[in-house]
Amino acid sequence: MELWRGRTSATTNLALVAVVLAAMVEISAGQGLVPGVMIFGDSVVDAGNNNNLATLVRADFPPYGRDFLQHKPTGRFCNGKLATDFTVENLGFTSYPPAYLSNEAAGTNLLNGANFASAASGYLNSTANLYHAIPLAQQVQYYKEYQSKVETIAGREKARTLFSGSIYILSAGNSDFIQNYYVNPMLSASYTPDQFSELLAKSFTNFVQNVYDLGARRVGVTSLPPMGCLPAAIALFGGGNNGCVTRLNNDAVTFNKKINTAAASLRRSRPDLRLVVFDIYKPLLDLIDNPGSSGFFESKRACCGTGTIETSLLCNTRTLGTCSNATEYVFWDSFHPSEAANRVLSDALLLQGIDLIS
Ligand SMILES: *[C@@H]1O[C@H](CO)[C@@H](O)[C@H](O)[C@H]1NC(C)=O
Ligand SMILES: *[C@@H]1O[C@H](CO)[C@@H](O)[C@H](O)[C@H]1NC(C)=O
Repeated sequence: MELWRGRTSATTNLALVAVVLAAMVEISAGQGLVPGVMIFGDSVVDAGNNNNLATLVRADFPPYGRDFLQHKPTGRFCNGKLATDFTVENLGFTSYPPAYLSNEAAGTNLLNGANFASAASGYLNSTANLYHAIPLAQQVQYYKEYQSKVETIAGREKARTLFSGSIYILSAGNSDFIQNYYVNPMLSASYTPDQFSELLAKSFTNFVQNVYDLGARRVGVTSLPPMGCLPAAIALFGGGNNGCVTRLNNDAVTFNKKINTAAASLRRSRPDLRLVVFDIYKPLLDLIDNPGSSGFFESKRACCGTGTIETSLLCNTRTLGTCSNATEYVFWDSFHPSEAANRVLSDALLLQGIDLIS
């Protein structure tokens, strides 16, 4: 397989992990390694909740989904699978947690978790509100509602096992910076990037406390990616240069330190909480800096949405120049990794998240 070319020690570790996982999944006879997966946050993990909202931030039209199952758009901001889709598969599940606002989120479909994420949402209510997305606090409200549905369907005891055994995944912060802080002069005048990161980290702590109080014991949160290397960031903030925007990457590093500090503090105060901060900064930057060594070809331009600033932020059927095969592109659109890159990221999640399943 092309994608595996040139990987070093991580490959060996990963191969081991994969063998162990496969054996464990085998033993558990088709059930997942954990009872379920609960997903919260932004467009990196949204599996279609925004399809049901009056928001412009959606991906329920071609060419989104063209490489997904049945080659149909689902609302995922990708040509195919999200990193969390691969994670769910790695854990041994045969279906993905349904988008909570979709018709599929009913009955026994709810018993292996659900997806509450909403594109353009983030740590701050104001980020989601700007785009009519679902704020994180509201996602947690939906999760509460979900819990009572599950209790009715499965009974209290089974429900409790599901809530405490499931992995909770959160992806947030991207939209708070890119779609709020950097474009909102009031916000950037009131807070330095460091202060703004502090504010987001407080909201992160709040989120973890809330889901912990609702029974969560295994939580994984993704770090920020190298935001300055997103094709959209280069187009908007790169000042005409075609390299990564250093300032934005520095802000991501600042934020990632804060979130690690916040996580350490949460772990100290809650010894029975397993909490992992997934570092996606480094694996994604490695792909961007060295696409060839992982079998990629293009890491600066998105497959869908290239060209002038006005058109580079859009990906739809009228977008000119969409690539015919996204396999060798790190970015599918100007904000989101391709399925091929998501597969690499999910390998990193698996290696770093082993503590959540062992
Ligand atoms: C977000 O809004 C909810 C209620 O809508 C509120 O309880 C919560 O404190 C707010 N969170 C932040 C970080 O402002
Ligand atoms: C895309 O390219 C890869 C190799 O780079 C190839 O394996 C795959 O079959 C191609 N897919 C399509 C749909 O052409």
